[in-house]
Amino acid sequence: MARIIAFGNLKGGVGKSTLAVNVACELASSSRVHLVDADGQGTAAEWLQAGHLPITGESLPLEDEQQAAPWMRRVLAVNVDIVVIDLPPNNGAATTAALFIADIFVMPVGPSGLDLRAATKALALLHEARAARADGGKPAGLLVPSRVDRRTGAGREIEAALHEMGEPVGPAIGLRSAFVDSATVSEWVGSFAPRSVAHQEIITLAAVVDRITRRKPADGPQG
Ligand SMILES: Nc1ncnc2c1ncn2[C@@H]1O[C@H](COP(=O)(O)OP(=O)(O)OP(=O)(O)O)[C@@H](O)[C@H]1O
Ligand SMILES: [Mg+2]
Repeated sequence: MARIIAFGNLKGGVGKSTLAVNVACELASSSRVHLVDADGQGTAAEWLQAGHLPITGESLPLEDEQQAAPWMRRVLAVNVDIVVIDLPPNNGAATTAALFIADIFVMPVGPSGLDLRAATKALALLHEARAARADGGKPAGLLVPSRVDRRTGAGREIEAALHEMGEPVGPAIGLRSAFVDSATVSEWVGSFAPRSVAHQEIITLAAVVDRITRRKPADGPQG
């Protein structure tokens, strides 16, 4: 069965789609990766449609809770190594369903006080999902400082603030024009600006996500 990596947060514009697409493309250098765009806005699906990304994918929004079961079955049935899910910025049906099947919930968090408050609420959803699941503490969580400008006080403080939230904190992603410019021409940073700082940050983040999702579940009652 594919490993499932969900990118979500209750806050809009924090870099969920940017990181979902770029991490998916980086992981595609060693795995078969399929991107599920669960956001009705269709940002990631449109990006993919231009045909410049080394991954497959589809638009699969889920707005109606009644459709959650077939949606989850469909995602679980994709025959690849890794499914990356890009979620909408709310705690609707898609986020709930993704938390139920994901191996990891990656939360990009922007560097403002409002971003941190939204992250606290999203973490509560993650904890609820873990309690409701019977498969050994899944999904793992990963807080990713996103759009970080280290020249500002908020940019320097975000990592410290995230470390106090009790979930692993991933490598920071800087506020960089390469992320915007590559998306503008429907590319990812690895093809648009290979070996740029932006690409290096994606390589590092993808490696962390890869390592966490390869880990064997802790020895539990099921062995
Ligand atoms: N690290 C970054 N540096 C500079 N710009 C960025 C970075 N990450 C994202 N952006 C830009 O910020 C905007 C929002 O990013 P993105 O669409 O990835 O956020 P999102 O969380 O998916 O938003 P939504 O909640 O609307 O789905 C986009 O214009 C994107 O190009
Ligand atoms: Mg998005």
